[in-house]
Amino acid sequence: MKKTFVIVLLAALMLSLVGGVFAQDDLSGELEIFSWWAGDEGPALEALIALFSEQHPGVEVVNATVTGGSGVNARAVLKTRMLGGDPPDSFQVHAGQELTGTWVVADRMEDLTSLYEEQGWFDAFPAQLVDQISYEGGIYSVPVNIHRSNVMWYVPANVEEWGFEVPATWDDFLAVCPTIQEAGVVPLIVGEAWTVNHLWESVALGVLGAENYNALWTGGLDIAGPEMVSVWETFGSVLECSNINDDASGLSWQQAIDAVVAGDAAFNIMGDWAAGYMTTTLGLEPGVGYGYAASPGTSGSFLWLSDSFGLPVGANNPDATNAWLSVLGSVEGQNAFNPLKGSIPARIDAVDAAPDLYNTYLQDAAADWASNDLAGSLAHGVAANERFMNDFNEVMNIYLASGDANATVQAMQAVCLQDAACGY
Ligand code: GAL
Repeated sequence: MKKTFVIVLLAALMLSLVGGVFAQDDLSGELEIFSWWAGDEGPALEALIALFSEQHPGVEVVNATVTGGSGVNARAVLKTRMLGGDPPDSFQVHAGQELTGTWVVADRMEDLTSLYEEQGWFDAFPAQLVDQISYEGGIYSVPVNIHRSNVMWYVPANVEEWGFEVPATWDDFLAVCPTIQEAGVVPLIVGEAWTVNHLWESVALGVLGAENYNALWTGGLDIAGPEMVSVWETFGSVLECSNINDDASGLSWQQAIDAVVAGDAAFNIMGDWAAGYMTTTLGLEPGVGYGYAASPGTSGSFLWLSDSFGLPVGANNPDATNAWLSVLGSVEGQNAFNPLKGSIPARIDAVDAAPDLYNTYLQDAAADWASNDLAGSLAHGVAANERFMNDFNEVMNIYLASGDANATVQAMQAVCLQDAACGY
């Protein structure tokens, strides 16, 4: 009798275990994840997909990428697919206006509030970040990271050999620029068009300070006023110390970083995916193989952006997408992704759960994120909607062709009005 009871108990236990495994495995079908993290940008996403596949072996992940830094090409493809009723199951989108002002207002994203409740994410993500992905009471994506835009990269040994200090302000940079040029080195290297916009936002933050920079996007600063004229004038002087009229348009952000590493250029201003590239792909050690500083004039300010993923209306496999989003928002997911990516986790508890995974650069970034004044990136979707981001290219072209700061601020103001951006 006793023996039979034990056998029945064991059988029941085994069944429940098998049931548990099946419960984890009952997801199936394809899950298409759409992003611009191809090639050199791929390892962090691949680590996340590997973790998902371990937990959900029945799902076949289709890693759909469209190459091109900052998503310039991917966003165009996504737009066609979203408008054509063929959304991927989940796609990379920046937290902020790129998400809410583009896809949420158009009613193309599912509300994830119940997933947030189920996963306990209201305590895990900073409230001001959740604000950036919320719209009229709903929450529309899951942030995987925080990147910093205003970072200046260099090679410490080169700067020492050339004999100048890392500039703390744009005036310092402009003062040292001729010396660097005389050494036959490009003082500040830029690449293809979007990297020039990327530089612009660091210059704007440096000239305006965090308070006025933020006010620019919320209607508190005169877009055509003297502060903005000064931003464009400083930007023009900085570009004179760059390769903008030389080989810039043919360089990817990675190639611009390569030129710094090779000693052909002194500085590059790029988001900290550059730290991911130099650490993960080039195998360099932060502080030794590469140095970093807040871009000139922005010490104490953190120009932030966040990569996130959501669930589009009409996705083919919403259950698998919810499982994907759950992995992405977990401590384990964030710690698989961020050390490789060069970003810090969006979750407030992830670094402390595994501090050894985070190198000195990332530890510094985490400390700055917690203590600095925050400003939202324009080039990476926080500050303005996608229409404005596209039209800003036109504003930039006007400046590059004319060098006329007064005409440019007028153009920018018109575009802000047209696109309902900058607080209009
Ligand atoms: C940003 C994105 C980063 C990185 C970078 C370069 O927009 O947020 O994760 O991919 O572009 O492509």
